[in-house]
Amino acid sequence: MTRRSIIAGTGAALPARSVSNNELAAWKNIDTTDEWIVERTGIRNRHIAGEGETTATLAADAARRALAAAGVAADRIGLIVLATATPDQTFPATATIVQTMLGIDDCIAFDVAAVCTGFLYALSVADNMLKGGMADHALVIGAETFSRILDWEDRTTCVLFGDGAGAVVLTAEEGDPDSGILASRLHADGRHNDLLYVTGGPSTTQTVGTVRMKGKEVFRHAVVNLAGVMHEVLDAAGHEPGDVDWVVPHQANKRILDATAKKLGLAPEKVIVTVDRHANTSAASVPLALDTAVRDGRIRRGDLLVLEAMGGGFTWGAAVVRY
Ligand code: COA
Repeated sequence: MTRRSIIAGTGAALPARSVSNNELAAWKNIDTTDEWIVERTGIRNRHIAGEGETTATLAADAARRALAAAGVAADRIGLIVLATATPDQTFPATATIVQTMLGIDDCIAFDVAAVCTGFLYALSVADNMLKGGMADHALVIGAETFSRILDWEDRTTCVLFGDGAGAVVLTAEEGDPDSGILASRLHADGRHNDLLYVTGGPSTTQTVGTVRMKGKEVFRHAVVNLAGVMHEVLDAAGHEPGDVDWVVPHQANKRILDATAKKLGLAPEKVIVTVDRHANTSAASVPLALDTAVRDGRIRRGDLLVLEAMGGGFTWGAAVVRY
């Protein structure tokens, strides 16, 4: 028996407003077409936060649903790790705002910044803190309002992203070594800052800035890095691609999902796809996809999952989970 981190429950939240490609083009006056976006990315809709909806409100809603699914009361949470690139304020951490919204008086709470890989980083940090005895129950959240850092004049980026949040309750249990998070692997290579970044920041421009991306180069790195880290993490967990029941990938682009699955020899039916409905929600996309597939009954207890993501930095990572 060893101390394990088990995913006890999942939750998600999306802004009320869902916007199709055609609606977005008309609303923001973008020179694009539904055909172009669907063909290049697989995206059909995204949710866009409205007045009163922020990264913290979405995160808190997702967290409440995850707590309810886990049957864990908020006051038992000892740790909140929140991944975001779009915090409500530069400081304090959005995790502390969520903590207050959930009515938790005292726990460890901080944000993790690894952009689209943020949830994998947060999950690994929380897993290790639980195993180290720092807490018994953790909320791990990915939440974003990317619509607020998009340049709506730049059609090469603004059609790709959406807003949302996903959360899991991680619970430490003395259990079977083949349960919960079996392995995680994380990477970063800061030399690629210029391929995917935001033009501002408190210490440089004193502004928030907007997203810039060289899509083709990012695409190329994504497929190589994701296939590599998935092999690495499966090896670390003592599994092979053939053992995997479901891949829960970061949802950036349907073509990246297809190319990565092909490189691993995985059937496309084993890949959870939500990019058509949510677009790229950065740190929220993996837990949003996980919650979608748990609630629609595809992912069941005992299934072997691979979670993976890649994003700005570059950062990339993967985790193998016995759900
Ligand atoms: N609507 C219509 N045309 C568009 C467009 C849009 N929204 N955005 C770009 N175009 C045009 C370009 O201007 C270009 O026109 P040109 O040939 O006349 O210059 C043409 O479409 C092709 O652009 P290109 O950038 O070469 O397209 P692409 O096939 O590489 O697809 C992405 C672009 C962004 C969809 C693709 O590169 C991609 O998905 N990359 C990965 C990015 C990603 O998901 N990153 C997130 C990782 S966290």
